[in-house]
Amino acid sequence: MSAMTPHELTDAIRTHHRSLAGTLDGYAADMEASAASPDSAALIALLDRLTSFLANDLLPHARGEERTLYPALDPIIREQGSPTATMSIDHEYIGEYVRKIVEMAGALRAASADGRAELARQLDRQLIQLQGLFSAHLAKEERVYLPLVEQAISSEGQHALLAALHEEAESAMKPDGATEEAVLDVRTVSPARRHPVIFGRFDALTPGLSFILVNDHDPKPLYYQLVAEYQGQLVWEYLEQGPEAWRVRVGKAN
Ligand SMILES: [Fe+2]
Ligand SMILES: [Fe+2]
Repeated sequence: MSAMTPHELTDAIRTHHRSLAGTLDGYAADMEASAASPDSAALIALLDRLTSFLANDLLPHARGEERTLYPALDPIIREQGSPTATMSIDHEYIGEYVRKIVEMAGALRAASADGRAELARQLDRQLIQLQGLFSAHLAKEERVYLPLVEQAISSEGQHALLAALHEEAESAMKPDGATEEAVLDVRTVSPARRHPVIFGRFDALTPGLSFILVNDHDPKPLYYQLVAEYQGQLVWEYLEQGPEAWRVRVGKAN
């Protein structure tokens, strides 16, 4: 066997990655086009090619890495790599999706009625991609990192980390010490999901912070539920009371 040049293996992997990702992009575009004009014969041929690609190219690639590349890398990462570097790349991608979605949301708000459907479809695609990445990311943190935290970090250390996480969240919500508050507009959330969404947001709130709840009716029933559950902790201050929108400062007392 002839000697390998320094980049032969990594170039081969990169090339294979580009080819897999390009093929996948192609199938996504073809599927989208065929959803617009479903011709059953063409669709079936496309589905055959897609499922065979997934089973015979994409999955074997992952399995191959699992069996060969990762075992070779594990000891090297332990010795000289940064084991969380891959997670930071996830965060970078999550940030990029959020940037795109916020930008598209701005365009969608300002769009005319005929432009809206296409923009909403594009936004939804980004959202679905973010969802896929985010769910894998959470699984990695919860299955790999959190058990290590529980095993290896003292309860004082965990306490300090939790405080630091809260502080980070706080400064993110108040950029440059400004009093800009986060807005939770539930008017586009289906009525059945509104209360769980608001409760989730309230649960996650750091004491001393608040958000502006926007609703299309007086959220009085919610007020009673929150008061019942959180007693003296609830801050509830009407900023606007209809007739179109209700804005309430909802906060957690210190
Ligand atoms: Fe790979
Ligand atoms: Fe994360």
